Amino acid sequence: MSGAYILGIESSCDETAAAVVRSGEELISNVVYSQIATHQPYGGVVPELASREHLRAIVPVVRKALEDAGKTYETIDAIAVTQGPGLAGALLVGLSYAKALAFAACKPLIAVNHLEGHIHAVLLEERQRGQHDLEFPVLALVVSGGHTHLYLAETTQGIWAYRNIGHTRDDAAGEAFDKVAKLLELGYPGGPVIDFLAQHGNPHAVKFPFAQIKHRDRNPKNRHPSDELRTDFSYSGIKTAVLRYVEVHNMAESIQRRRATVSAVAMPTPQDYLAACDRQTLDLIASFQRAVVDDLVSKTLAAAVDYGVATLLVTGGVAANSELRGAFEKRAAEEGVVVLFPSRQLSTDNAAMIAAAAYPRFLSQEFAEAEVSSEPALRLG
Ligand code: KG4
Ligand code: ZN
Repeated sequence: MSGAYILGIESSCDETAAAVVRSGEELISNVVYSQIATHQPYGGVVPELASREHLRAIVPVVRKALEDAGKTYETIDAIAVTQGPGLAGALLVGLSYAKALAFAACKPLIAVNHLEGHIHAVLLEERQRGQHDLEFPVLALVVSGGHTHLYLAETTQGIWAYRNIGHTRDDAAGEAFDKVAKLLELGYPGGPVIDFLAQHGNPHAVKFPFAQIKHRDRNPKNRHPSDELRTDFSYSGIKTAVLRYVEVHNMAESIQRRRATVSAVAMPTPQDYLAACDRQTLDLIASFQRAVVDDLVSKTLAAAVDYGVATLLVTGGVAANSELRGAFEKRAAEEGVVVLFPSRQLSTDNAAMIAAAAYPRFLSQEFAEAEVSSEPALRLG
């Protein structure tokens, strides 16, 4: 089949990933090596361990992605790699390897912003379904362990441009899931297990009032053209509120009991955690998730309405959350906005999104210089 076959490589956090994507529209192979087992005992990602694991995994992961695609270094058309943002040491492994491969195989190298990658995970799967045209304006929410960003996205002759209209002022939403899970002894990462446990609790049991972050005047008549309407988020307060609830309600003993029960299991499943949670804990978890979901959905939809958005893309690890998906679907339908998500597999970090985001650059021959370096604090828009 004709088209451009791009090998994507991603190593910005705790997943070593490689994938082959054809012309930004067909997923040919997708390999993700997750380091969860390595970081699980620490309740979060340990940067030094992440770099070491990437070093171990990168060669077999890239080989497998090529093998699964029936491709070789000679028969791919370009190599795309995450340049940033992410952990410095982790990014360095992927970028150095991609540079060496590109040099040895005489293939062009394309440096990709990880956040743009998350947005292209949605676009890749839409194209794969035969949907090539999005209705603009497009708003994208990238919500993951490291980011909670809102972007207005535009495309001119296939080249995408982004304008950031909101971000978190402190913790990312996924970080709040991970920290609350750590506090409650629910393992790492927190998102998937909280997603599961929340279905067994009462989301109205605990009230978490969100401090409304001050916005500029939402009335368009009062707005100066340069006075851009921003929608910022903040998730460190809810983590502290959960901690306070645990203290006030003397939950330390129940947490310690869970720690003891679960540590006897080698790789605990969500079912193991469920068996180790009492009603009060399940209610707290369900209320926490409901509060975060309500906040993300209401602020994003308000921004979508303010900007007259036609299509909303919700992507990043937290976009895998079932309650979040349901709430976005309901609220977007009420506002007449089309909402699109990646499959769960492409919501969390992967390299297919990196290969897909590189395709427009491949077409416009926007290749990285030989001296390209990783940028841990790289911004988008
Ligand atoms: O996109 P991602 O793999 O990495 C970053 O770029 O950060 O996102 C990982 C984050 C973690 O914080 C994880 O707890 C969260 O996504 N996550 C979820 C779910 N699955 C993963 N959060 C809520 N519900 C989920 N089902
Ligand atoms: Zn990510």
